[in-house]
Amino acid sequence: MEWKLLQKQNSRVKKRALSAEVLKLSIKAKAKLKLRLKRRKLKQHEEQKLCTMLGNVRITNGGTTIASSASFSTVFTYLSCATVPITVPISRDGLQSLECVTSETCADSDAHRLIYEKLTSDITADLGSSAASTDRECLKRFMKGDSSLVYGELGYDAFTHVLRKIFDDKLVLLKPGQGTFLDLGSGTGKLVFAAAIFHAFRICKGVELLGNLHRLALSLLHKWNRDAKYRLKACRELSMSSGDVSSLHETDICFIQSDFRSQDYANADIIYVATTCFNNSMMHDIASIVENTRVGTVLITTAGKIIPSKRWRVAMVFKDIVTDWGLSKLIVHEKVA
Ligand SMILES: C[S@@+](CC[C@H](N)C(=O)[O-])C[C@H]1O[C@@H](n2cnc3c(N)ncnc32)[C@H](O)[C@@H]1O
Repeated sequence: MEWKLLQKQNSRVKKRALSAEVLKLSIKAKAKLKLRLKRRKLKQHEEQKLCTMLGNVRITNGGTTIASSASFSTVFTYLSCATVPITVPISRDGLQSLECVTSETCADSDAHRLIYEKLTSDITADLGSSAASTDRECLKRFMKGDSSLVYGELGYDAFTHVLRKIFDDKLVLLKPGQGTFLDLGSGTGKLVFAAAIFHAFRICKGVELLGNLHRLALSLLHKWNRDAKYRLKACRELSMSSGDVSSLHETDICFIQSDFRSQDYANADIIYVATTCFNNSMMHDIASIVENTRVGTVLITTAGKIIPSKRWRVAMVFKDIVTDWGLSKLIVHEKVA
């Protein structure tokens, strides 16, 4: 149990260097703590007991308190997100108070990428491709030369770079807890999670036709609910400006196995669709399914493909965006009528 581990470490420190009262947690030690925490989830009453025993838990940076938390697991989640070694001074009279001092706080964007990487590390683009190809073999229309079900991925950095520009240039005005993000043809669902990590959307949804890919997305959702969403919450708690709890909004993430042409997008704020392998007829289908979206809705397409409709204007163009199928041009459209 974590408590025992801390007691053990505490007594080890006392034995080795009574005067030092400092336990330096190496990255390896952090990993061990993380593992233990993962193996045995604290029940709520145990966590409360630990908090009472620990007293106040503070995380400081250069003497300034950056987080004060009553939640033991939040502190450890923070430890596992941090990219720098962390020093934990332990008082002489036992664990009356535990203070985690970071010499440097890890930037939000780094912590967010770590959360994403940890979540998606098992689901590679190759795995997505082979899952898709097994499914495609069963679909006759693909055999007739329809390439729309070809699998490929846009990376986290490229995608969040585009989202950052959209938010910074105020193309959308969404506060935490607001907005619906949709990925049409969401594959293994990775970008749905990338969007939820980037902004506390109200809803992030992926629609995918192929069953194998949909199931991989569901497995990621399971992992998200078990672990990643708590890490994200801890990161947001640490960077939250005082009292503003809206950033802690928990995004509702869902995946649907369906042809995205049969869904309704009236409430969408940002829609992403990887159009690289879509032909003209598919582009017209997309134009018609997004017809009833609100003015101001943003639609991102790949491979420089423009939505064939006068109701949309090209608001931004990103050249040479790295995808796993090569460099691509991303177009950001805005609904104007
Ligand atoms: C290039 S992949 C994009 C995956 C993911 N959105 C990304 O960018 O990382 C395109 C996905 O769209 C799916 N797709 C194509 N046509 C579809 C349709 N009509 N309905 C649902 N999914 C579709 C394919 O199966 C494939 O997984």
